[in-house]
Amino acid sequence: MTTEPALVLLLSGPNLDLLGERQPEIYGTATLADHVDRARRRAESHGLALDHLQTAHEGEMVAAVHSARGRAAAIVVNAGAFTHYAWGLHDALASFDGPIVELHLSNPDSREAWRHTSVVSPVATGVIAGFGGDGYDLAIDAVAALLEAPPR
Ligand code: DQA
Repeated sequence: MTTEPALVLLLSGPNLDLLGERQPEIYGTATLADHVDRARRRAESHGLALDHLQTAHEGEMVAAVHSARGRAAAIVVNAGAFTHYAWGLHDALASFDGPIVELHLSNPDSREAWRHTSVVSPVATGVIAGFGGDGYDLAIDAVAALLEAPPR
């Protein structure tokens, strides 16, 4: 009998589809597809599968979190600007049982004051921010470690 690999859901919020063109001095030159490929390869190296959704619609992201309940083992979420105000996303994530890693390419805490509030952080297991594209590998490594053994 073969068992399905555990699934990690990677969520990308508004404007992340413009990565590569959008403010490269802040977000780098890699595209979202580059980051997703990287995350998928890293997940596979840990024996995990990866699903990805990018959306500019909060309701679609909330629905994706609902459908992850009981199906995905963990969520990695770069919610883009939703991070700073989308309480519906916060509540959806609070309903998810597994590890949640909040991810940002930049370090929002070192930027404008309005980026210093995260509505995702209170329901995240941990946060990876400010490491550019390397953050995708770091987030998957964190998820793999958390799935192996809960935080000490
Ligand atoms: C971001 C940071 C957010 O403040 C911003 O709205 C984004 C991208 C990041 O990855 O650094 O869209 O989440």
